[in-house]
Amino acid sequence: MENIKRIGVLTSGGDAPGMNAAIRAVVRAGIYHGFHVYGIRKGFEGLLEGDIHELNLRSVSDIMSRGGTFLQTSRSKAFNTPEGVERGYRMAKVFKLDALIVIGGDGSFRGARDLARVGLPMIGIPATIDNDIHCTDYTIGFDTALNTVKDSIDKIKDTAFSHERCSVVEVMGRDAGYIALYCAIADGAEACILPEKEFNIDEDIIKPILGCRNRGKHHYIVIIAEGVGGTLEIAEQIRQITGISTTTTILGHLQRGGSPTVRDRVAASLMGVKAVELLKNYEINKIVALKGNEYVAYDIEEALKMRKHIDENMIATSKMLSL
Ligand code: F6P
Repeated sequence: MENIKRIGVLTSGGDAPGMNAAIRAVVRAGIYHGFHVYGIRKGFEGLLEGDIHELNLRSVSDIMSRGGTFLQTSRSKAFNTPEGVERGYRMAKVFKLDALIVIGGDGSFRGARDLARVGLPMIGIPATIDNDIHCTDYTIGFDTALNTVKDSIDKIKDTAFSHERCSVVEVMGRDAGYIALYCAIADGAEACILPEKEFNIDEDIIKPILGCRNRGKHHYIVIIAEGVGGTLEIAEQIRQITGISTTTTILGHLQRGGSPTVRDRVAASLMGVKAVELLKNYEINKIVALKGNEYVAYDIEEALKMRKHIDENMIATSKMLSL
């Protein structure tokens, strides 16, 4: 069995609430199991720069309740080339890192996979508010983002009710509509448009709004996932076609911040521990995943080929319950 003694940990891509809890779990479980753990600042950018520091038990005190990532993060263009990967591998050797734990999304895992191919063992921990990592049912940060969006739409609803308006709300989700769909159910949106589905403005927005009006509703919430595009134009069309006063709110990056929920803290802690245990057993080059109620791990190459799909039953439920 290979001997892993020194583990590097980094966060990469968009930040997500709960990343700090995952780092804390990696550091504490790592030290518990006899590893030295090194924090790499600013993702793969910091790996290239050698911005690498040993973390101790107290380095991760009081970080769990904070949003963002105390190690900071990046979307590194420099690393994303064969030369960048070689340089990253070389720098890992300078610091005598035997393995790397990467907390992030699919793009970050592809970077880690490239490092694994040149010889640096890796483990991935899925973290993104979008919940769009295919091999896992759940990604760290999703629940906190949902609660932030839910709180915002609750407030928007108060004013939409008072003025009998239609409120169009754009939520994050470049490629995936999980935030949009969950919040459509949680907030009883009259329409919800997802990047995974073709849409027709008359069928999917105008008719549902008018149907609701004719059944006695006087205010309406339309949720658009960011990846659909054209939110302002959609709102303008609603106003022009229906004559209903229509406002637009783009929630933007406020969805990525905030203190993580219990669900995210617990998921991040369990995933962090699982990542360390995999390395302890020399089960390398894997992504930690939640399947049902169980934390499992998939081979990185297999995990990157997996596909998960938005739940059609949830779409139907959202429509049914907004009548
Ligand atoms: O974290 C995922 C995500 O929030 C996407 O939904 C969004 O498109 C993207 O990140 C924006 O990230 P940034 O502004 O950091 O590039």
